[in-house]
Amino acid sequence: MSERLQQAGDALAFKRKYGPWALIAGASHGVGAAFAHQLAARGLNCVLVARRQDALDALRLELVARHGVEVLAVSQDLSHADAADRLLAAVTDREIGLFVYNAGGDSFLTRFLDTPVEDWSSLLRLNASTPMACCHAFGGRMLGRGRGGMILVGSQAALGGIRKLAMYSASKGFAMNLGESLWAEWKDRGIDVLNLLIGTVDTPTMREAMVRLNIPDALGMPLPQAADIVALALRELHNGPTLIHPQDIDATGYGQSPGQVRREHVIAKSAEAAAFIGND
Ligand SMILES: NC(=O)c1ccc[n+]([C@@H]2O[C@H](COP(=O)([O-])OP(=O)(O)OC[C@H]3O[C@@H](n4cnc5c(N)ncnc54)[C@H](OP(=O)(O)O)[C@@H]3O)[C@@H](O)[C@H]2O)c1
Repeated sequence: MSERLQQAGDALAFKRKYGPWALIAGASHGVGAAFAHQLAARGLNCVLVARRQDALDALRLELVARHGVEVLAVSQDLSHADAADRLLAAVTDREIGLFVYNAGGDSFLTRFLDTPVEDWSSLLRLNASTPMACCHAFGGRMLGRGRGGMILVGSQAALGGIRKLAMYSASKGFAMNLGESLWAEWKDRGIDVLNLLIGTVDTPTMREAMVRLNIPDALGMPLPQAADIVALALRELHNGPTLIHPQDIDATGYGQSPGQVRREHVIAKSAEAAAFIGND
């Protein structure tokens, strides 16, 4: 079979499993925009969510022109308490087969007590409560259909506490544990869940932070590219629950499959817990 035919077949299979709509939360630039481009190229219609309507509208026009897919642009601040409800209302009855949650960072970069608790609460909603409510709503619909996928874009900060990143690492840890648990619950029911834990990636947000922190060569330093990391995540989506970039890729050189360590951990812990809380 020619390479072209193979690619067309792969795209069709991807669309059957994860289509007809993908929702990308945090889609207006960087990693989220890279997801939108690659998902539209596979023929998925896209719901794009972020705060800046103008950036979403520009991306919508580009995706429609290039790929002929349907695109809905939703301006929504995902740190608001009612964000998930508003998102559900905007989506109406569109079948979301793939949910990507990419929004979520830490614009404060301070010690815990140097930022007011209201601001930390807002970060907690953006990084934890809103994705939790979305996983509940979209996951329930996917289970009803017996197919679908979720990608929670996280950070290596999820793996442990870090000075001056207390709420970022805590909230990313919440999201990672949520995603791993959902993977364990849903993996045999047709739903793929992948936490994508990033070390560093070249995004406008990251470059701005590097400039703000006076990092030498902040604008010129080579960083991993969003398009490459997104391609990897889509390739490994069936291979959850957690892909750590770049360590998991480096580990394949030592005979491990991507994500093997976290996968074995979650399977072992779920089996241990089943002895107490049941396996239903
Ligand atoms: N960049 C890195 O090196 C790096 C490292 C580790 C982990 N990550 C993780 O990767 C993800 C994306 O990285 P990134 O932050 O560098 O930026 P990014 O992918 O370039 O952009 C973040 C996106 O989220 C949107 N967003 C931010 N706050 C929002 C809010 N309150 N409501 C709705 N949308 C919002 C932004 O658009 P608007 O401004 O239009 O709202 C933008 O579209 C994050 O989850 C981050 O934790 C990144």
